[in-house]
Amino acid sequence: MTDTAGTGALPVEGVSAARVLDEIRALRAADRPTHGGRLFAYVYDPGVAGLDELAQAAYAESAHVNGLDPTAFPSLLAMENALVGAAARLLGGGPGTSAPDVVGSVTSGGTESLILAVKAARDARPDLAEPRIVVPVSGHAAFAKAAHYLRVALDPVPVDPVTLRPAVADVAAAIRPETVLVVASAPSYAHGVIDPVAEIAAVAAAAGVRCHVDACFGGWTLPWLRRLGAPVPPFDFAVPGVTSISVDLHKYAYAPKGVSVLLHRDPGLRAPQFFAYADWPGYTMVNPVIASTRSGGPIAAAYATLRHLGEDGYLRLAAVTRDAVAGLADAVRAVDGLRLLAEPESTVVCFTADDPELDLFVLVDELTARGWHTQPQLSYAGLPASVHLTVTAAVAPRVAEFGPALAEAAVAARAAGPVVLPPELLALAGSLTPEALTPDLIAGLAAGLGLGAGPAPDRMAAVNTLLQAAPVRLRERLLVEFVGLLQRPAW
Ligand SMILES: Cc1ncc(COP(=O)(O)O)c(C=O)c1O
Repeated sequence: MTDTAGTGALPVEGVSAARVLDEIRALRAADRPTHGGRLFAYVYDPGVAGLDELAQAAYAESAHVNGLDPTAFPSLLAMENALVGAAARLLGGGPGTSAPDVVGSVTSGGTESLILAVKAARDARPDLAEPRIVVPVSGHAAFAKAAHYLRVALDPVPVDPVTLRPAVADVAAAIRPETVLVVASAPSYAHGVIDPVAEIAAVAAAAGVRCHVDACFGGWTLPWLRRLGAPVPPFDFAVPGVTSISVDLHKYAYAPKGVSVLLHRDPGLRAPQFFAYADWPGYTMVNPVIASTRSGGPIAAAYATLRHLGEDGYLRLAAVTRDAVAGLADAVRAVDGLRLLAEPESTVVCFTADDPELDLFVLVDELTARGWHTQPQLSYAGLPASVHLTVTAAVAPRVAEFGPALAEAAVAARAAGPVVLPPELLALAGSLTPEALTPDLIAGLAAGLGLGAGPAPDRMAAVNTLLQAAPVRLRERLLVEFVGLLQRPAW
């Protein structure tokens, strides 16, 4: 019998449910492990038994509900309002606080929340022909994306190479008459440090400019860590001058992917975020967020996750995570040649190598070979290359194993020695302009680095070394080209 099913997404004859699921599971086998505490980026795993099943069931209940029209699906509106209320309360807003009128929207993720924060700020100032935003270089790349999408100019502020924070005087100096938004991170993704939010919000307020606190990463951990006694500086609506805050529920609220909350101090600040259109013959459209049709699945899953874990659950998970962070930081301190780039003050451990014989990118590959998946970060503007660990509660039971694995990987990385790229390749990376890249050159580079269709190579040190040797604009172009090679239709 011939197999008419093939492997494409649209077989001539449909295949059975059981087979499709088997196929997906087979594909998933090549993925990094989303659970089990060995992947220190991309995923947020609380390690709570039964939580996945609950979230999946809630997701399924609402997967076909459409957030396009809140009057047609009041269930979704109720759950969204509940999520916004919970986030607002956790972040210093709501009845009885200094920010009683906080409102918000549920978005698909941190990037959408940040784009909308920038859009609201931009559209509140229609008088400005060339609006600008002030963002410390440690701010998430999504602000640059927002600036790019919305044609807003980006004024980056350097960070101190030791504290990894911007100087408030530099932020103040970057504010111009055209500035519509000033940004602070709580904490920054790359290094996990909390910007001086109160001081930044004060200079923004003094200039009459909005201040957004990007708490996408830390908004659902810092409040619990503070309750546990950590010296978390003020970063939320309790700080005068903070006009909006983003917090991702698909990060430390441990909800499945697709949910973030964008909060504004009052409805007037939020109003320019919305888009309404009635100048066509179809349905009258009003979208609070970028997407129009939106699945209720992620929202229901997040609602179920929050209600099931509750405050006591999050407090317990934060305590476990805090201890895991301390354990991982100790593991880094114990390895000669490695140095914490910042003392952990949230749930990130970030380290660099001071010893030229210990190549961080090789170390990352050695860790990968041992089943530990960390995130390399390239050197940038005077900041050294580093390794980022996002620490979640599921890491806690693994901490004792990580120390020896890191030490062993460091020995192996030293033995292997630093990556040596052919000098002509390095020279090319250093001198080539993005405009000079030809399809042949890209194909040659990709082939030389083992990149092409299919999964990335096991060892990425050469790729990272090449990217690091390239100026920022060339890095970006190479990334686009390399990922373009991966995104090809499967026929
Ligand atoms: C501080 C911060 N802001 C924004 C984002 C972007 O979030 P997303 O990947 O959900 O779009 C992230 C993601 O890690 C983040 O850490």
